[in-house]
Amino acid sequence: MAPAPGASPVARAHASEPSEGIRMKVTVVGSGFVGQTTALRIVQAGLAEVVLIDIVEGLPQGIALDIKESSPVERFEPLITGTNDYADTAGSDVVVVTAGFPRQPGMSRMDLLGKNAAIVRSVVEQIAPASPDAILVIVTNPLDEMTFLAAEVSGFPKERVLGMAGVLDSARLRTFIAEELGVSPLGVEAMTLGSHGDAMVALPSHATVNGTPLPELVDAATLDRLFQRTRDGGAEIVALLKKGSAYYAPSASIAQMVRAIAGELDEVLPVCAWCTGQFGITDTYVGVPARLGPRGLAEIVELDLSDEELRALREAAEGIRAKCADLAKL
Ligand SMILES: NC(=O)c1ccc[n+]([C@@H]2O[C@H](COP(=O)([O-])OP(=O)(O)OC[C@H]3O[C@@H](n4cnc5c(N)ncnc54)[C@H](O)[C@@H]3O)[C@@H](O)[C@H]2O)c1
Repeated sequence: MAPAPGASPVARAHASEPSEGIRMKVTVVGSGFVGQTTALRIVQAGLAEVVLIDIVEGLPQGIALDIKESSPVERFEPLITGTNDYADTAGSDVVVVTAGFPRQPGMSRMDLLGKNAAIVRSVVEQIAPASPDAILVIVTNPLDEMTFLAAEVSGFPKERVLGMAGVLDSARLRTFIAEELGVSPLGVEAMTLGSHGDAMVALPSHATVNGTPLPELVDAATLDRLFQRTRDGGAEIVALLKKGSAYYAPSASIAQMVRAIAGELDEVLPVCAWCTGQFGITDTYVGVPARLGPRGLAEIVELDLSDEELRALREAAEGIRAKCADLAKL
């Protein structure tokens, strides 16, 4: 069957499948807050057919049915299935992994390492044989270390194992800048790199408000305050919710990465990706500017960074490398 006009490169590559109009198959593992909102965003945007899976019986089925029942009102094709069986995930183009514990008030992301490593390992052991050509988008925290673990366990080429954090952290920073200056966030550009945590690296040299460089609009103390609030952005929401962590901005950020993989977005995104010498960083995952496409990581884009930004990025990479070495001892 011919691919639909304007179909994504992934859909074209799969043009022999009976899926006219369906662009990709995306599995979302974990049907909690992040997983279910991600599934809704992807299916509602018509980006892909979605399979939602969880270990809890009935949960993904119930969420999928509820989402389907919203489709006549919201006017989208209800291409979503809920399941507890990995056989239903077979042949996925993209697998988003959100399975695992979220933070509770007072916890750091790193406190989740042991428990979530066991979950991510077991998920990837089941996902990889069912979808050997998939691109993995890891979301479970601690993000950088779980992305490394998923790459190790799957044995997939590193270009096909990515982590989502930078799109979210950058969105938070853009929101805080807009609030500070009383402008629409739509006119604010900003990017964060490094790790998803205390070693997040904000790039003042690449932040603009309606085209004006941010450092020309606020003083150094305000910049520091905005960056620190971004670093603590997840904890701020955890403290307010008191039970669980953020999911609306995270799911929007995951959907953005899926859109880029589908070839529908040609933007440089901050992505947790495997570096092979870029920015002087080799053989570790860390948040870097990247272009994505149907094969996963298309390229890491070596933006010009100030000496201070580059130093902080390299330090973040070394921190992640050390934590990943700790993973082996678990
Ligand atoms: N990378 C980011 O920027 C980012 C942002 C937000 C949340 N997160 C992380 O995403 C994860 C999920 O957060 P949430 O709010 O959806 O949590 P949640 O508790 O609402 O949902 C987690 C789901 O995972 C499921 N699960 C547990 N073990 C599983 C397994 N072995 N197989 C399949 N499913 C399994 C649970 O049953 C649950 O439904 C957490 O680790 C959280 O810290 C990351």
